[in-house]
Amino acid sequence: MSLATDRPRLLVTRRLPPAVEERARTLFEAELNPADTLWSAGELVERASRHRADALLICLTERLDAGTMSRLPGSLRVISTVSVGTNHIDLAAAQARGIAVGYAPDATTAATADLALLLLLSACRRAHEHQAILRSGQWGAWNAWNNLGMDPGGKVLGLVGMGRIGRAVAQRARAFGMRIAYHQRRRLSPELEDGAEFHSSLESLFRASRIVSLHTPSTPETLGQINAQSLSWLPEGAVLINTARGDQVVDDDLIAALRSGRLAAAGLDVFAGEPAFDRRYLDLPNATLLPHIGTSTVETRDRMGMDAIANLEEFFAGRPLRWPVG
Ligand code: DGY
Repeated sequence: MSLATDRPRLLVTRRLPPAVEERARTLFEAELNPADTLWSAGELVERASRHRADALLICLTERLDAGTMSRLPGSLRVISTVSVGTNHIDLAAAQARGIAVGYAPDATTAATADLALLLLLSACRRAHEHQAILRSGQWGAWNAWNNLGMDPGGKVLGLVGMGRIGRAVAQRARAFGMRIAYHQRRRLSPELEDGAEFHSSLESLFRASRIVSLHTPSTPETLGQINAQSLSWLPEGAVLINTARGDQVVDDDLIAALRSGRLAAAGLDVFAGEPAFDRRYLDLPNATLLPHIGTSTVETRDRMGMDAIANLEEFFAGRPLRWPVG
């Protein structure tokens, strides 16, 4: 910590909502990034060293791999990320250096679940296609047979991952009359399942589901889990929703399934390598595409920032992190 002040020294890597930055300034000797420049790993290390940072407040745009982690200054004791995803942080490398890592899982739940439902409804009702028809001036007379969508009611929604967000999606989908099934490594307690049907394998879940939504973190196990084989387990005319991470999908295989019509539609908020993404998605009328806005609401971004700061506050008060990773 600084000799001039007893406040811990914090480097904030991205611009955050005003109330969050204000809190950071109040509690810490904080260096902010008002221009919201995306720093390279080298710049981040350089700034953290120059600031003699005790703590980092980062976002999912900062990739802290083992190499970067090893170059961060010796003063650094804790990292908190304004995200539920932690795949941008090499947790083993942080642990090896004795750096505590916190995140902001709870704050992201409702907004992400809302967005999954938005994509699900858009995909089922072909909202994106219909909007394109209207915008291009091709709206003809009402008819009873063309461009029909599908009712979500009565369909089985297969949730891949039934953590906080998966369960919040289930809660919302039940209001649309959907039946809930899920797959993850461990079966939930009956109370948390709330009537959802557990499947011990992805194959069994996919064979039983008409609509599938991904809510798993990015890990070596989930990497590319949506591929030609797993898509072939889905019934003809199924729908895929992804608000988790893009690297869980093999783009070639999903695009082929959407092109052939085997998959009726997809709703995607996340992409491998974003903000770059496979441009072939743009030619698919049956894909609703959003630029990773799962948590983009005023309330959610405020709370994510405050929760991430709460981790740091607890740490420097000598208490366990509010939301420790792992
Ligand atoms: C997260 O918090 O990991 C989300 O993907 C951000 O929207």
